[in-house]
Amino acid sequence: MQLQNDLLLRAATGQKVERTPVWLMRQAGRILPEYRAVRESVSGFIELAQTPELAAEVTIQPVDLLGVDAAIIFSDILVIPEAMGLPYEMVEKRGPWFPQTVQSESDLKKLRIADGANDLSYVIKAIEITKKELAGRVPLIGFAGAPWTIFAYMIEGSGSKTFSKARAMLYTQPEFSHRLLQMITDSTINYLKAQIKAGVDLVQIFDSWAGILGPVQYQEFSMKYISQICGAIDEVPKTVFAKGAFFAREEMATLNCETIGLDWNMGIAESRKLIGAEKTLQGNLDPAALYGNPDQVRKATREMMEQFKGSRHIANLGHGVYPDIDPEMVKVFIETVKAF
Ligand code: CP3
Repeated sequence: MQLQNDLLLRAATGQKVERTPVWLMRQAGRILPEYRAVRESVSGFIELAQTPELAAEVTIQPVDLLGVDAAIIFSDILVIPEAMGLPYEMVEKRGPWFPQTVQSESDLKKLRIADGANDLSYVIKAIEITKKELAGRVPLIGFAGAPWTIFAYMIEGSGSKTFSKARAMLYTQPEFSHRLLQMITDSTINYLKAQIKAGVDLVQIFDSWAGILGPVQYQEFSMKYISQICGAIDEVPKTVFAKGAFFAREEMATLNCETIGLDWNMGIAESRKLIGAEKTLQGNLDPAALYGNPDQVRKATREMMEQFKGSRHIANLGHGVYPDIDPEMVKVFIETVKAF
């Protein structure tokens, strides 16, 4: 199906655009009352994500209600550990929790490399329904967590400020760590390929916990695997968002991907200099800027846009939108980008 609005794909591949495309990380599921209504009709996040018709509905909500230039499939990065044999739960107000974690050789033996199309058939079905219902209005973004971020949850068993157990593992059992990271990588490639086959137009890799590693470890335990994923996928444009990896921007330029996501700590001019002109940059307004009044949101958004002007850019926040942001301020952000 021909896309009516392909700004995102043209911006990603460095083609001419009439205006900068805009979408928000975590636009589905966090801020909209319409999402909460659907969410209350089921037992929780996991049931919602595993019910393709409902997952498609909440994926499309931000397109209808906010006017973003792309949809992102409603799911979570933690479906990969589950598909490998390590199930998760979503604890109300606390976030993800794994009843079992990976600590030893015998834990690793229980895991398998996921086959995206079979083990995650509910996501694949949701993508097919979403593509049909979008009917080409905007592109659909598929996604997965970067292997390091997934590894961190599988070792730690929940969110953490420091992920010190996961980081300790890299020092105490580097060979074991690499074996698990490789299994996650192979599962992720299968999963992204299945998403692409089902119709996603672009894929994004979220390395949310990039910033807790030092540059040398980041190279060895994260970039290595992101690079394998980028190398394995050439069907659609790829975006790599490594939160906090300011120290890796020069190496990011060498990845086989079209777009690099910036968080709000990364200076725009400096990032462009480090990454070069051959990649699109995505980002990077501080999500906290949306706590302002409409004039303040407009001012902050224009200041960001000004700095990206004249180079390849996809407008977004520097991380996911915060759950208590007023959807009206998200609209002000989007409208300001569109009018710029
Ligand atoms: O972007 C989108 O809107 C699509 C859906 C999406 C979700 N999670 C749905 C979700 C995406 C892209 C993610 C990615 C994700 N999940 C990341 C990477 C991006 C980032 O923010 O750094 C991470 C680290 C996770 C892990 C995760 N899932 C956490 C820490 C939590 C709890 C806190 C939170 O974000 O609400 C989740 C739960 C989750 N994932 C919810 C949603 C809508 C909330 C569940 C609910 O409705 O109760």
